[in-house]
Amino acid sequence: MAIHPHDPCAFPVDALRAQFPALRRAGKFVFFDNAAGAQIPQRVLDAVNLHLLEHNVQRGGRYRQSIAVEQTIARARERVAALVNAQRSEEVAFGMNATSFIRQVSLAIGQMLGGREEIIVTDLDHEANVATWLALERMGAVIRWWHAREDGRLYTDDLQPLLGARTRLVACTLASNAIGSIVDVRSVSALTHAAGGELFVDAVHYGPHGPIDVQALGCDYLVCSGYKIFSPHMGFLWGRHAALRALPTFREQFIPDEPPGKLEAGTFIYENVAGMAAAVDYLASVGRRIGGSDGDVDPETLRRDCREAMLGIQAYERTLSAALLERLKPLGARIYGIADPGRVHDRVPTVCFTLPGRSPAQIVAAAAQADIGIRDGHMYAPRLMQRLGLAADTGAVRVSLAHYNTHAEIDRLAQVLERLCAR
Ligand SMILES: Cc1ncc(COP(=O)(O)O)c(C=O)c1O
Repeated sequence: MAIHPHDPCAFPVDALRAQFPALRRAGKFVFFDNAAGAQIPQRVLDAVNLHLLEHNVQRGGRYRQSIAVEQTIARARERVAALVNAQRSEEVAFGMNATSFIRQVSLAIGQMLGGREEIIVTDLDHEANVATWLALERMGAVIRWWHAREDGRLYTDDLQPLLGARTRLVACTLASNAIGSIVDVRSVSALTHAAGGELFVDAVHYGPHGPIDVQALGCDYLVCSGYKIFSPHMGFLWGRHAALRALPTFREQFIPDEPPGKLEAGTFIYENVAGMAAAVDYLASVGRRIGGSDGDVDPETLRRDCREAMLGIQAYERTLSAALLERLKPLGARIYGIADPGRVHDRVPTVCFTLPGRSPAQIVAAAAQADIGIRDGHMYAPRLMQRLGLAADTGAVRVSLAHYNTHAEIDRLAQVLERLCAR
């Protein structure tokens, strides 16, 4: 029977949790630090193991195991292309992580500044999408800052005056890994292109929380990290084919100057790419379950199924965000970013806060004692912490949820915080 993707009450959280062996093995432990790495479903583990057991060889050989590696990579490209709605799978490149891809593109852009030397970065972003662009100052780039406002959001009204005939590129996130705010990337893209610049989107944190459609977003480059989207550690870059073709990248003499190969110097971790393909299959299976389709993954409907899954996940996660915000309010929590439970559509379920009279470290230690994993610190966004008036060394507390989390788990955390505040 079809579950309406916008009916969060019908979200099959128990059935999905059962597919994550780590949740079972961890017993009562609550995984609320998903922004630092999500758990992986059994089918992802199986795909990684199968690769290592049967195909752990180099690609490019004429024997069947090597041919299988080539097929695994090709299938993974198709899967990821469907996940982000790429026009063609060659627009997807695999590598170690998101940061190294951002750096790779920034190094290339640094060689293509021409008369457009201005790069716009934000203080909402993870440092990976800031420092990599700041490094271009050595190559003649001029950095302009698109600042988040007091409410922890980026407004395109503030971007507009920064754009002009010298804008080479805007680098911004789709969602903040520290405070969860979503950025209106479609508008950013329209404004950036109207000024003749390009847009680099960091979708690492948004990836597990909603549908990504690179064509609808209208960006030029987008990066994601496997470990946030239910896969092992790896990164992938999507780029508009013409944009990737134009990038001067480092490559060995025998690699053609064509995407994706020109972005994949050296050997990446094939078993983890196999895992990433299986993570997309997992999401597609979630979409099929929600949509009431029979059978497992169907390559023909992969894009639709992934989108359906992410819409269902998004709707369910909004209920988690609202519940968490509601429970924090009576404790006098200062919430950074969107605090209104009525505006959860503008955020992902990543909630950053402080409590009066308790340090972030004390709060996180109390949660750890109760077998709940949350995190304190600057969340790799020290500039944002400063912008929000927080000390970068102590930072704040972050609770980062995923679709396998439950309302009961939020109740458990709230009870721990209530007890701590009552002491
Ligand atoms: C928004 C964002 N961008 C970039 C990164 C860096 O990703 P990676 O560790 O894959 O380089 C992270 C990691 O947490 C992140 O949350």
